[in-house]
Amino acid sequence: MVRKLVLDVDTGSDDAVAIMFAALHPDLDLLGVTTVNGNVPLVHTTDNSLRVLDFIGRSDVAVHPGLARPIVRHGFPAPKRFSRDSDRDMHGTELPLPPPVSKPHEVGAAEYLVRTARELPGEVTLVPVGPLSNIAAALALAPDLVELVPEVVIMGGAHHFGNETPAAEFNIWADPEAADMVLSAGFPKVTLVPLDATHKALVSTADVERLRALGTPAGEAAAKLVEKRIAAYAVAGEAARPDAAPVHDALCTAYLVRPEVIGTRPVHVTVETRGDRTVGRTVMDLRSGSTTPPNCDVAFDADAALFNQLLLTVFARRA
Ligand code: RIB
Ligand code: CA
Repeated sequence: MVRKLVLDVDTGSDDAVAIMFAALHPDLDLLGVTTVNGNVPLVHTTDNSLRVLDFIGRSDVAVHPGLARPIVRHGFPAPKRFSRDSDRDMHGTELPLPPPVSKPHEVGAAEYLVRTARELPGEVTLVPVGPLSNIAAALALAPDLVELVPEVVIMGGAHHFGNETPAAEFNIWADPEAADMVLSAGFPKVTLVPLDATHKALVSTADVERLRALGTPAGEAAAKLVEKRIAAYAVAGEAARPDAAPVHDALCTAYLVRPEVIGTRPVHVTVETRGDRTVGRTVMDLRSGSTTPPNCDVAFDADAALFNQLLLTVFARRA
């Protein structure tokens, strides 16, 4: 069965790979893309998303710009661990693809999310892979969203180690109040894909060469984007291997078609919104005798071979 989804992105190199996966996989129906401030400012996450869709011949998928700042915090974006366009930056302000011909849709992200969920109750999976500002805004507009959306698949959070701070992963850190709202909203199923899983699904330079050899627009773009990620991770020494990198967001789209690509367990997860050193931490109750009811299926494991095989199969396709 074809699965309908809306992808909420802060594009970004790994978001770009997720967009291509969702736009090209025959078992996925990408209804729309919503953009949010995150890896780069909103104007660029929107422009980058349009670049990706135009490049692979899916300019029929509309891009709806969303929130330009977090739902509560002022002064974002805060200083990042590295400056934009440095050798540690795995995204670049503008993705290395031709400027888009397509324009952003005039309907904003939150309104689009609510409208789509109401038009197709029980049918649309939400896949936010950036800060959760748009989903929180949609919930504020329409609390009944939790009854309309059967599953939310989130790239975010970390248990073992953070990336933005020692305690926190970027997407949750960038809008912790929004993340807190979404995780506590009461969606029937929330699948959380944190760094713990994405760092087990590395894409290597050998995988990049296989993607490039496909000779398709998606293969070419994926090779270029992942190559940059590998170089940046190598400088930072943040991946388990110097010749490979995680492509976080694409693991969420891979999960939609092959759930066994991640290994999950049910966990109660809350978000720290106050601690000076821990803001944005996903607090996972992994105590063996815990009686707190789980609110998420958290991925702690991933199948790198299957993930890479899926990328190769999907990116061999043309729109
Ligand atoms: O921490 C990784 C996440 O932050 C990814 O979604 C990346 O694109 C950024 O949004
Ligand atoms: Ca992202």
